[in-house]
Amino acid sequence: MTKSSIMHGKGQYINGLWIQGDGTILESINPSYGTLLWQGTIATEQEVTAACDAARQALLSWSSLDFEQRAHYTQNFAQQIDKNRDYLAHLIALETGKPLWEAHTEVSAVIGKINLSIQAYHERTWTKITKTTEANACLRFKPQGVVVVLGAFNFPAHLSNGHIVPALLAGNTILYKPSEQAPAVAEFIMQCWHESKIPPGVINCLQGDASCGRALLSQDIQGVFFTGSYATGLRIHQQFSDKPEVILALEMGGNNPLVIDEISDLNAAVYHTLLSSLLTAGQRCTCARRVIIPDSHQGDDFMNHFIKTCSSIKIGPFDQKPEPFMGPVISHEQAIKHLHSQKKLIESGGSHLLSMALLAENTGLLSPGIIDMTHFENPPDEEIFAPLVQIYRYNHFDEAINLANQTRYGLVAGLLSNNEQHYHQFYQQVRAGLINWNKPTTGAASSLPFGGVGLSGNHRPSAYFAADYCAYPVASMEQPLLTMPEQTLPGIGSLGTP
Ligand code: NAD
Ligand code: SIN
Repeated sequence: MTKSSIMHGKGQYINGLWIQGDGTILESINPSYGTLLWQGTIATEQEVTAACDAARQALLSWSSLDFEQRAHYTQNFAQQIDKNRDYLAHLIALETGKPLWEAHTEVSAVIGKINLSIQAYHERTWTKITKTTEANACLRFKPQGVVVVLGAFNFPAHLSNGHIVPALLAGNTILYKPSEQAPAVAEFIMQCWHESKIPPGVINCLQGDASCGRALLSQDIQGVFFTGSYATGLRIHQQFSDKPEVILALEMGGNNPLVIDEISDLNAAVYHTLLSSLLTAGQRCTCARRVIIPDSHQGDDFMNHFIKTCSSIKIGPFDQKPEPFMGPVISHEQAIKHLHSQKKLIESGGSHLLSMALLAENTGLLSPGIIDMTHFENPPDEEIFAPLVQIYRYNHFDEAINLANQTRYGLVAGLLSNNEQHYHQFYQQVRAGLINWNKPTTGAASSLPFGGVGLSGNHRPSAYFAADYCAYPVASMEQPLLTMPEQTLPGIGSLGTP
């Protein structure tokens, strides 16, 4: 696999087999060079139905296995990934453009997810049997059934895996539709599941775009575990408005604030802001989109240092030497859209501190942009999934908190400050699912829940809490022998044997 070789898709993974169908062509383009990386097909309606039948057929035997047996398959999968660590990191870098150092961290997260999910399963979906004089009061959990997993492009291996592994452990069977912008990574992940010897039908993979996603959602399914944009999450929510019985876990975007307050180490503040706003070329749901800075000399020093650092970071293809800090955005088309969003912000009252620019024709390589939005009236509350930072200046800390809360999203909020009182106030008053202090907004911990409030999620956080939406609790009152109670209720009369 090199940057110039073209990979040919194996087809759809259905019931333990790769099926080469006659769907329309799906292509994946290397965003660093604009070259064709992978060519395959979009799943047909018949393939979608066949996959759904296979998942339904496999459900009873898979969910009836002991937990340890299911866990064993996920551990086999982790071994396959570990064995192919370098290959997978290279493929992620080729397909998404992220630097190799970062692609390696994604592979490690995929492997780390297995043991964490096993731990989370036991901690969050436990069995409890309480003996009472009348019966045993039992709490156990059951899988939802056949569930659809829809993946986003920015972590094509890790984020879908964050739904898939807990869902399998809980006993669900899966219909997986990866992002149409990263089919090659998904195909390799499926090959690793295949090598894990997981039984046929337990996990099926259908390649395709939104229309394939919609076709999957119209099948007889019990859950949808989605990572992607708010716009898509909303559409899915609407599609299920008359099906409250289907559980939706919607992990969506953010318009995340990072507040700079009292700092003594300017370098640390700039470094943490850089990691917050520009990691993965700004294509993390956790990226700080709005940096809120004091309107003071110290704020000016921070601003100047931040602009200088952003102008000098290395941006380029993952195989560039020395390694870049960031690569391209996912496609040339997205890069053009992001430049258009920047233009709109400037035309409506923002002022350029650093202009985001396309670095090479026909690629997704963008340099970072910084826009001062302080005097912008009614700024749009939108997630721009790009290396574009919006700056707001403030005079009082209360005002900073107000600005931080000027969003309907609520994924992450960060504070850089040596003032502990201010952190307590920030924590108390800011509405978000993740609130960080003197740490970047990016780089979520898999050992914690991950999900937002407002437009960022539907109160079903993923990561460590994914176990919660993968299973439902069942309450049972049980006693092995049917007997008459010592006392019967009034008004029943005689129950003596006839
Ligand atoms: P997207 O919403 O465009 O697509 C996500 C997935 O949904 C893709 O597989 C896509 O094909 C599918 N899809 C699109 N329309 C559909 C429909 N109508 N029915 C069924 N499926 C449909 O998202 P993206 O561009 O791939 O990813 C970027 C977005 O994801 C950003 O908004 C980012 O913030 C968000 N994200 C959120 C998290 C989180 O955990 N909260 C993590 C990463 C990314
Ligand atoms: C993401 O899921 O987009 C980001 C998670 C992280 O920053 O670790």
